[in-house]
Amino acid sequence: MKKITKAVFPVAGMGSRFLPATKASPKEMMPVVDKPLIQYAVEEAVAAGVTDMVFITGRNKRAIEDHFDKAYEMESELEARGKHKLLRLVQETVPEHINCIYIRQAEPLGLGHAVLCAAPVVGDEPFAVLLADDLIDADPPVLRQMVDAFAARPNSLLGVMEVPRAETGAYGIVSTAGEEGGARRVSAIVEKPAPQEAPSTLAVIGRYILTPRIFHHLRRVQAGAGGEIQLTDAIAALIDEEPVLAFPFAGVRYDCGSKLGYLKATVAYGRKHAEAGAAFSEYLAGLGAGGGGR
Ligand code: G1P
Repeated sequence: MKKITKAVFPVAGMGSRFLPATKASPKEMMPVVDKPLIQYAVEEAVAAGVTDMVFITGRNKRAIEDHFDKAYEMESELEARGKHKLLRLVQETVPEHINCIYIRQAEPLGLGHAVLCAAPVVGDEPFAVLLADDLIDADPPVLRQMVDAFAARPNSLLGVMEVPRAETGAYGIVSTAGEEGGARRVSAIVEKPAPQEAPSTLAVIGRYILTPRIFHHLRRVQAGAGGEIQLTDAIAALIDEEPVLAFPFAGVRYDCGSKLGYLKATVAYGRKHAEAGAAFSEYLAGLGAGGGGR
């Protein structure tokens, strides 16, 4: 049985919802407290045993490559100044045994197209997809939970959670029917249905484990909603051939693709931050009592 060693990170998106912050730097580099979103996602993949990180990038994404590269000048400067703790922090951004692979998606043709760009590297193996916008606070981390489930039963898995009906238009929505070894089998999936048309309120969140058969379907799907090649449409074709399971992960998910979700994440991660958490929590408590602004 094949292990999951490769993870795909589609990071070519424009990040228009965070303009002007994302005018010249990638949205995936936006920090929650002191760590960029993409680093949270990469750390989650590392914790799940992934060794090959495949980034699907686009224009203006050089900062991501630099982030996961050696920072020679900075490292020798920190060394010279005896700042060993910071030096370790910089060096540990990518553990030694991890490979980072970058593929350019020349045109913004959608999430499905981005995943298809990874086909030459992924080959004939099951693989993970992580959307860095979806920051999930979980122990064990969500991809670890999914990789363990996959090891027990090697089917494609979609991370899912319940969302309010009014929000179905922001997600891939699944219906489930029947069981596959205790897990719910996906019987239908539709991209961003209006609330009144949504078959359920079970939404796909940005964590997937997919069998390589998905590439066959990605090559065949026509551009769907918004002129983009949707991953959802290829998954819809896959479920006719093999079981695809819904995976209701344990954890708290923050939608860092939206301002409100990003702010919530900043508060949650700020409160438990090793260095600033205690003082920040105290500050927040003071706000509740009418304080703040210092
Ligand atoms: C994408 C997918 C959607 C999924 C969502 C999860 O949409 O197309 O099916 O539910 O990610 O965050 P996006 O948020 O990129 O519009």
